Amino acid sequence: MKILGIESSCDETAAAIVEDGVTVLSSVVSSQVEIHHPYGGVVPELASRKHIEMIVPVVSEALQMAGLDANQVDAVAVTQGPGLIGALLVGFCFGKSFAYALDIPWVGMDHLEGHINSVFLESPSPEFPYIALLASGGHTNLYYVTSHTQVECLGQTFDDAAGEAFDKVAKMLGLGYPGGNVISDLAKSGDPEKIKFPRPYLDKNEFNFSFSGLKSAVNRYIQTHPDEYQNQTADIAAAFQESVVDVLTYKIIRAAREKKCRHVALVGGVAANQRLRDNVTVSAQKYGLTVFLPSIELCGDNAAMIAATGYYYLKDPDRPAGELDMDVYSRAPNRLKA
Ligand code: KG4
Ligand code: ZN
Repeated sequence: MKILGIESSCDETAAAIVEDGVTVLSSVVSSQVEIHHPYGGVVPELASRKHIEMIVPVVSEALQMAGLDANQVDAVAVTQGPGLIGALLVGFCFGKSFAYALDIPWVGMDHLEGHINSVFLESPSPEFPYIALLASGGHTNLYYVTSHTQVECLGQTFDDAAGEAFDKVAKMLGLGYPGGNVISDLAKSGDPEKIKFPRPYLDKNEFNFSFSGLKSAVNRYIQTHPDEYQNQTADIAAAFQESVVDVLTYKIIRAAREKKCRHVALVGGVAANQRLRDNVTVSAQKYGLTVFLPSIELCGDNAAMIAATGYYYLKDPDRPAGELDMDVYSRAPNRLKA
């Protein structure tokens, strides 16, 4: 089954063709970073307008790269939420219309489940049940995953998401948007031990997170060292990153041990962080766990993960197919929250 995946929940317009949930025939991602960069964050109205401009060229390119005509697509999977309503509506309405015009099935997909299933687009892939840490710009959720369509959320952030904290700290240091990559690059030349930031919720016996206190601690450091901090940006970046990495690593390993899972996966934009990938790999080895890390292109937003997840939903006779009057949603549904 060849599925056209469409993703437009935030600032990437993406389309992909995936066969039987695992073989990526094409994956096209058009990023809007340049548009939002001067504003220090995503401007929803600008995002929607750019999606409208890009959706047809991006889908056409995905079809062309896969060597397919539109009428050779078997089904459509399109992100329904969570995300920016205006941005989601562009991909969602396009996906519905495409399926309606060709009279093929379609399904609205949850972006978070897309990230969780991104580890099945490469091999080897984890065995169920496994623990997935989804860390992105909007979410930091820890999942016990029992099938492609069933998860239990063990914990989540009370405030900022891990990626959001990276973005905000980058902004404080005047490093622009988005911050994840810039902070991790800068951290390479910094000393993570020189400045000590808190490890929020590290010692609490639960799987929730909180990053706003850490973000405030960085801000306080900047405010109280107005003359020195400009020369310490690498050390600040390294110390901040180390704190996030410590907390995320501790919780994912703890969850795997408590739930007796041998496999763990890191997914979402923050999973691209090399220090996090290395630290989780080393800790997992200590406990005899195997870590699954999507390649960098599959960590950030993409439509291949949406098409892959769609395959499992479309195959399941108990899951409702898409109806034309379905709407998008901005927040994660309860079944994906703790
Ligand atoms: O999954 P994603 O592309 O979009 C959302 O669903 O939010 O995640 C984007 C987030 C941004 O906050 C970005 O700063 C962060 O992922 N990110 C990183 C890195 N690359 C992207 N965070 C830390 N280290 C990175 N290398
Ligand atoms: Zn995402």
